[in-house]
Amino acid sequence: MSELLSVTVDDRQVEVPKGTGLVEAAQAAGIEIPVFCYEPRLGPPVGACRMCLVEIEGMPKLQAGCTLTVADGMAIKTSATSAKAAEGQEATLEFILVNHPLDCPVCDKGGECPLQDLTFRYGPGNTRMSFSKLTFDKPIPVSPLIALDRERCILCYRCTRFSEDVAEDGQLIARNRGAHTEIATFEDEPYRSPFSGNVVELCPVGALTSTLYRFDARPWEIQNVPTVCTGCAVGCNTSATIREGKVKRILSRNHPEIDRGWLCDKGRFSYPHLRAEDRITSPLRRGRKGLEATSWDEALDEAETMLRESRGSIVTAFSGSETIEIAYALGRLLRGGLDAHSAVLPEATSDALEAFRMPLSAIGEAGLVVVVGDDPVVERAPIVDLWIKEARRRDAEIVVYSPTGSETTAPGAGAEICRELASGKSRVANALRGAERAVLVWSGPGGGGGARIAELAHALGFADKPGCGAFHLPAASNPRGVALAWAVAADADETNPEPIELLIVSGDDAASNPDVRALAELANRVLVVTMFHELAGGWADLILPATAALERDGTSMNLEGRVQRLRRAVPPPCPDELAWISKLAARFDVGLAPHAMGVFAEVGEHLFKDLTPEDLGPHAPLPARHAYVAPEPATTPAPVEDGVEGLRLHRYRPLFSGPAVERVPELGFQRPDRDVELSVADAEARGIANGDVVLVSSNGTSAELRARVNRKLVAGVARIADEHAGDLHPSVQVVKA
Ligand code: SF4
Ligand code: SF4
Ligand code: FES
Repeated sequence: MSELLSVTVDDRQVEVPKGTGLVEAAQAAGIEIPVFCYEPRLGPPVGACRMCLVEIEGMPKLQAGCTLTVADGMAIKTSATSAKAAEGQEATLEFILVNHPLDCPVCDKGGECPLQDLTFRYGPGNTRMSFSKLTFDKPIPVSPLIALDRERCILCYRCTRFSEDVAEDGQLIARNRGAHTEIATFEDEPYRSPFSGNVVELCPVGALTSTLYRFDARPWEIQNVPTVCTGCAVGCNTSATIREGKVKRILSRNHPEIDRGWLCDKGRFSYPHLRAEDRITSPLRRGRKGLEATSWDEALDEAETMLRESRGSIVTAFSGSETIEIAYALGRLLRGGLDAHSAVLPEATSDALEAFRMPLSAIGEAGLVVVVGDDPVVERAPIVDLWIKEARRRDAEIVVYSPTGSETTAPGAGAEICRELASGKSRVANALRGAERAVLVWSGPGGGGGARIAELAHALGFADKPGCGAFHLPAASNPRGVALAWAVAADADETNPEPIELLIVSGDDAASNPDVRALAELANRVLVVTMFHELAGGWADLILPATAALERDGTSMNLEGRVQRLRRAVPPPCPDELAWISKLAARFDVGLAPHAMGVFAEVGEHLFKDLTPEDLGPHAPLPARHAYVAPEPATTPAPVEDGVEGLRLHRYRPLFSGPAVERVPELGFQRPDRDVELSVADAEARGIANGDVVLVSSNGTSAELRARVNRKLVAGVARIADEHAGDLHPSVQVVKA
């Protein structure tokens, strides 16, 4: 335990560990030292704003409290007891306000603004300035998502420090000097970073605002509903701001072990898809003239008929983003109420990882992080990327085995790398074996990632090392929760029916998955639960409208294996899944609660015996590690056919993709360009330069894309985002168009 130091803040004495900052020491004494620029999550203090002035016994001048740590016996006087400190803070505020426009009535920050609040508590009651204030063009577009009202900026540098030191994108800069300093983007390019929205939340004034929220609500008209993001498997804790039954913005709710208060732009800005024009709100049934609107009663009659006629020959394709309750309810209806049949999940996960469980924050404290898998971590689980960056800043060694990693590998080599690390004598294998704080991460599709990384962790003896753990980054937000809930819903055998009489497609990700669509072609009938007509209009026999995560109550299991609670932020425009599944189940004599907490009580009996809904909020705990259970042995992946002089196609699913992102025009600039990435060697061999238009082709199908020469990419590989790869096959030819 670290040494305790005794300090006095105003008239209160407290003991705090050595190294504690003055702001925290005052907090421990129940006293506020006001701050603007101070934000420990951004790294060391910069002392930019001088709002935190305090008087310290023995020091002749006022000190910026945020820049100091306590010393034993230190006596600190805040403005509450020091007239000098009060005068200093008042002068600071007067100075900050010299050019601040005081347009609070029309400022989005008004009503929840630290500058307003601190001026009210510590500032001068009137102004001595009668000259004109500085003005600028406004708003300045930082990107399609963020606007800058430059005259409101108080130069606290929170935004630039986030960009430089947390996201490490280096795109926000402070240019010019002294009174002319201003915040801008590098070379005035749009701020394009997966994490850009965090600067809006960090800005202590209304200088950086979200274009999606601007002028849309006043703080006294809104409610904040605590929920959890299901944009990926991280499960960031969020607050949904609601006004008049509509989601107006998403803010972070800082779970220190999961997200540390950061969100990615997909989680923060994709909520407008709830009100997309092509959203389905009532069922559609295929008739003589194609899909026709039908009533819920008729749709449930139709669904019942489909289920009865297909008994024993039904396949369910999940998105992996359903709540645990929806997956369980479907399992009770389909596995319990009807004969056994099978489910398709987007990606296999593994229970074996429970032996190596740790909070995501442990990545930031690791001394060695080894990432295996083809996909960039940021595309699968953005916040994990931030934790890895934090580890690197703390001098951790980061080793990445991927086509663009520090150890370049061919696509699909992950399982082989795991075997080598488990049995080999390489430097990395030895370092992993000897480490006390090491983390393994699997970031890629296929290869049974969760199981393979668990086997490696087991071979390295991680189960007995609390500082060592392993994570699998699945493509969906809740695949383990869905698989577990489905499995415990009924005691039934799984079969793979052939032919498939009925395919049930659950959710938008399943409906837009090419493998599921291929399965639909084999099925006699298809029932799709989706939010958008476009995703299934051409091939579904019956469409039931789906709800969005922000419209759902329920629970979800993130990639740590932590069960978290989703709360309905706004009512859905249609009956929710549990309402109609319970009605349908009743027709097959299966009793199901029509609401999430009723189903949770039932599924919890099987899955989480010690958990109650109260245990889950506001910050859900991480379950303890379980004993290691060896996973299923690996199946040998089919060899990839190599074409003559062909490049191996590596397609990946970008973070900014999918039906929700596609329906938010402001997110368009974050989506991947129509690029094919080539290694330097492959580009040179083909006479292709960066930016050239190229034809990528395979087996009679082709796509015209722009070449991007990636110095990190391994030779022999062409990398293309899924949405631009179309029907290209594993081996492609690339030629200059
Ligand atoms: S824009 Fe906001 S966060 Fe950035 S320096 Fe100005 S006040 Fe601070
Ligand atoms: S990192 Fe994942 S869970 Fe967090 S905000 Fe982004 S999409 Fe949502
Ligand atoms: S909060 Fe201390 S100088 Fe800004």
